[in-house]
Amino acid sequence: MIKELIKSIGFKKKNIAIRYQSRHSHTKLVADVIATNLKNKAKPITTKLNKCDILYLGGGTYYGKIDKELKTFINNLDSKKVKEVVLFATSGIQSIALRQMSELLSRKGIKVNRRKLVVRMGLKSHWLFKHKLSNRQIDKIDNFVRKVNNEK
Ligand SMILES: Cc1cc2nc3c(=O)[nH]c(=O)nc-3n(C[C@H](O)[C@H](O)[C@H](O)COP(=O)(O)O)c2cc1C
Repeated sequence: MIKELIKSIGFKKKNIAIRYQSRHSHTKLVADVIATNLKNKAKPITTKLNKCDILYLGGGTYYGKIDKELKTFINNLDSKKVKEVVLFATSGIQSIALRQMSELLSRKGIKVNRRKLVVRMGLKSHWLFKHKLSNRQIDKIDNFVRKVNNEK
């Protein structure tokens, strides 16, 4: 009955997937916080992706570039399978990964949400300094997901 009602007013729960590329775990940490917010599970880009309404996609920044595997993942994305992508990235200081991912997706004709998240780990964000996210960073991620959700 409730299902029918929801269907009749055109409200359908969005199908959300979360994928990340992470060499030294920082981006995975961010993806996991996003997943907790969405009561979902974050998986690496090597995990099979089914059709989805929203794909949260994130990666790290390495010498001013995104990882090659992430680039290949985006280039191989089926634009019929993904309605919209919400981008997130981690870096020492730069936000260049967001721009690179955004450009690759736009070239494929895949919609990119205007909201994008970069979590900066600071200059010590080398793999030797693997660390946890601060409360401030977690709040930033929580707020980001809330804002994206409120727009739907
Ligand atoms: C080899 C290497 C190169 C990096 N190059 C940059 C860079 O050019 N710009 C930047 O802002 N951060 C740079 N960083 C910092 C990373 O982007 C940051 O640690 C990020 O969180 C890595 O993501 P990951 O831990 O998920 O692999 C670099 C880190 C490493 C290990």
